[in-house]
Amino acid sequence: MRTQVAIVGAGPAGLVLAHLLHLRGIDSVVLERQTRAHVERRIRAGVLEHGTVELLRDTGLADRLDRERMVHHGLELLFDRAGHRVDLTGLAGREITIYGQHELVKDLIAARLATGRPLLFAAPATGFSGLDTASPVVHFVHEGRERELRADVVAGCDGFHGVSRQGLPGHTVSTVSHDYPYAWLGVLADAPPSSEELIYAYHERGFALHSMRTPTITRLYLQVPPDAQLAGWPDERIWAELRTRLARDDPAWQLAGGPILEKGITGLRSVVTEPMRFGRLFLAGDAAHIVPATGAKGLNLAVADVSVLAAALGQWYASGAERLLDTYSGTCLRRVWRVQHFSWWMTSMLHRDPAGDPFTAALQRSQLQYLTSSTAAATSFAENYVGLPLEGGTDHDHA
Ligand code: FAD
Ligand code: DHB
Repeated sequence: MRTQVAIVGAGPAGLVLAHLLHLRGIDSVVLERQTRAHVERRIRAGVLEHGTVELLRDTGLADRLDRERMVHHGLELLFDRAGHRVDLTGLAGREITIYGQHELVKDLIAARLATGRPLLFAAPATGFSGLDTASPVVHFVHEGRERELRADVVAGCDGFHGVSRQGLPGHTVSTVSHDYPYAWLGVLADAPPSSEELIYAYHERGFALHSMRTPTITRLYLQVPPDAQLAGWPDERIWAELRTRLARDDPAWQLAGGPILEKGITGLRSVVTEPMRFGRLFLAGDAAHIVPATGAKGLNLAVADVSVLAAALGQWYASGAERLLDTYSGTCLRRVWRVQHFSWWMTSMLHRDPAGDPFTAALQRSQLQYLTSSTAAATSFAENYVGLPLEGGTDHDHA
């Protein structure tokens, strides 16, 4: 098989990249390890930045999103049993969108299939050769056979557990990482949201987050120890803990319960691989970096990366100029580190230190009080949360 751009991974990064390239007349083949049913059911992110939605809309990917999304103009920070609203739109001029990542992935798969160009499921990449030549090859398995995909360029969009990062020779890259001493237990519940907006709660028993997917489905998260097992968290324990951590003095407020449809535990980590390129291999999204989920940024960063990559490849195919390919990694990493800092900061402010250090707790409370009483502090928070504009240095004409 031969194509212009070999895309490994059909998550948001790989699928959006395939679409942006198609609009520029650049051909690609997308290889995905899992089945279609698996990726369309994988419950993950829910918050889309304004810039992400605009990019999807400008490129014809937002028809269902625009019909079904929930638009939020603010969020709530809850501590000491009192809620404090942050007016995101008032402070930062932009709103956020709630729309499940798996719904977006369904839309992206449909858009890809409509182009008639290849998207192979159950086709794991196993390795690469010739990455430092003009004709790199992706080795993969499909229908029980070992196969090769030859391309001009390889886009490694295969997430944190993919193989692409291993394509970067150790001596050419540095990986910086930071582990957090807690994880998130996430549940999807058949219960109407108990608030119109997201609630980020700081509580002495640990962080909790109230989010949603639709007017009848709630998405909730609890801080748990990093080694927590699902077996230790029966549904009654999850609801009791959520009720405790989300409790407030307002007697009119109650957390609506309901059957738990899905649950899972995810660790919180920060990892950045630099540079995001070796020869003809370009990493994008979680393959290159992950952020702790608190800032709701991972999916948005993945889309930001591929918008830069698509513009760079567009320039290269159109004129042979390598300038944007050469600046790809640096351009992406400026945004990655801003987001990494914001996500670390928000995580550190809201999670209970397992060692129970009273100094840390006093600093967290002070930070929350400042954030909810100073317009300057709230504006900085809001600007980062709704998302900084997508980078210049690319052409903004996504088509
Ligand atoms: P992925 O979505 O991981 O896609 C990679 C794809 O590559 C997968 O389909 C995988 O099966 C495939 N693959 C792997 N290995 C191979 C291989 N060898 N060959 C072929 N294919 C392969 N982000 C936000 O922006 N907002 C949020 O609100 C948010 N909340 C989150 C909540 C949770 C609980 C979690 C876990 C994550 C959250 N994130 C959030 C992060 C977000 O889900 C990820 O950052 C996002 O999925 C990254 O997209 P991606 O395309 O880079 O990687
Ligand atoms: C969701 C996930 C997040 O990580 C976050 O910060 C906010 C909302 C969600 O899944 O809805």
